Amino acid sequence: MSTKNAKAILERMGAGSGRGGTGEALESVNPATGAAQGRIRAATRAEYDERVESGLRRFEEWRMRPAPRRGEVVRGLGELLRQLKEPLGELVSLETGKIRAEGLGEVQEMIDICEFAVGLSRQLHGLTIASERPCHRLMEQWHPLGPVGIVTAFNFPVAVWSWNAALAAVCGDVCLWKPSPLTPLCSVAVQALCDRVAAEHDAVGVFSLVPGGAEAGGWMCDDPRLPLVSFTGSIAVGRQVASRVASRLGRSLLELGGNNGVIVLEGADLELAVRAITFGAVGTAGQRCTSTRRLFVQRGIARPLLDRLVAAYRTVKIGDPLDEGVLMGPLVTRAAVERFSAAVAAARAQGGEVRFGGRVLDRSGNFVEPTLIVAPRHDAFPIAWEETFAPILYVFEVTDLDEALRANNAVPQGLSSALFTDSLRAAERFLSASGSDCGIANVNAGTSGAEIGGAFGGEKDTGGGRESGSDAWKAYMRRQTSAVNWGRDLPLAQGIQFG
Ligand code: UN1
Repeated sequence: MSTKNAKAILERMGAGSGRGGTGEALESVNPATGAAQGRIRAATRAEYDERVESGLRRFEEWRMRPAPRRGEVVRGLGELLRQLKEPLGELVSLETGKIRAEGLGEVQEMIDICEFAVGLSRQLHGLTIASERPCHRLMEQWHPLGPVGIVTAFNFPVAVWSWNAALAAVCGDVCLWKPSPLTPLCSVAVQALCDRVAAEHDAVGVFSLVPGGAEAGGWMCDDPRLPLVSFTGSIAVGRQVASRVASRLGRSLLELGGNNGVIVLEGADLELAVRAITFGAVGTAGQRCTSTRRLFVQRGIARPLLDRLVAAYRTVKIGDPLDEGVLMGPLVTRAAVERFSAAVAAARAQGGEVRFGGRVLDRSGNFVEPTLIVAPRHDAFPIAWEETFAPILYVFEVTDLDEALRANNAVPQGLSSALFTDSLRAAERFLSASGSDCGIANVNAGTSGAEIGGAFGGEKDTGGGRESGSDAWKAYMRRQTSAVNWGRDLPLAQGIQFG
């Protein structure tokens, strides 16, 4: 049963009493109505320091707890998330404006990474390497790193934390989370679950929350007690995080903007392409870093594809994200609506033709229309080189795959990309070293909606970080190379004779 009430959900999740600090108030505003729905307080600098210190104390013990035992804590969290998937998913919708299916999908993504991390807790493996020295074993092992700062964005207010925290925890790290100030309630709800699990497993201090704005993020960047800062957000802020963390020779893990292209070639399954493009461009109201923003269509099918897209866009029901049948909710803030309008105006001024949408809806809440803009040549259309976090899709006609690839790769961002084709040659070319330059390249599947098992992240201005699956866990550990001599001589490497 839907409650549609943030306060009731928080109580159900055991977060009724608040878990912030004593600093400035962080208001939660429902983007579908503009109504205030709760608030927490930011952590002060003193509270931040306290949480880092308590994390460090826990780390002393946690790093020595066997990884499969650490996995039990993450399993406990995953089980709670399964039980509370519906209320937490609704809370995500209430704070971000994403539709119910996507709010639930986000919690599912948390459950999935918890399962992945539990399995991983028995798999944190190193290598043994053939040594050139007789009776020597050469090996690599992976050790916990320390307290990890995790800074997350509004658009995936809980899942992105879990990609980092579930892995970091089984790797033996402790986690300090600075959530987006736009989604404070989601963060206290998840922290309440962490607190429950931590109390059951003697793991208090493994997960802690540092609510706040840019200042709190800055504390993490400059804090030598945090060997790693994982940041998800804009390219501009990512640059500052990278340079501040680098200046103390810390590590950063960056997941920044995308400007994701779909290429559709003649002979492709258009039905499939239209569904994938619509989900990619309209889903989450275009506010995923994997959202589809640029479409490159081969000339011969440009017309039918555009007609089908317009028909699909007509069926997109806009409204309260928790209402049945709604496919697109609001943008997150009024400022986001202004950025949408500015991008549409810039596109028009640069020769784009709005084929569908383009307007702000005249009702309360931050609602805009999903928008299709037929663009002139890619290099004569600078607005398409920027990421606007809104449901705007720029459509370009291209003569062939080469032209599409050049345009796809021309922009500074390099997160996700997709090709629709039935040609094996084209597909392999797209996936080759001279194909897409993005961290994600899909064939006959859209740019967004990546699953947890693969490493997630992108190249160039997207920041180069990898989170979630595959061997992304290595970012949360330190590598140690060891030579063990079990012989009675001391042979030196490189054949050196000394003395
Ligand atoms: C993001 O927008 O920051 O692939 C992450 C996807 C989701 C994650 C998006 N699994 O669209």
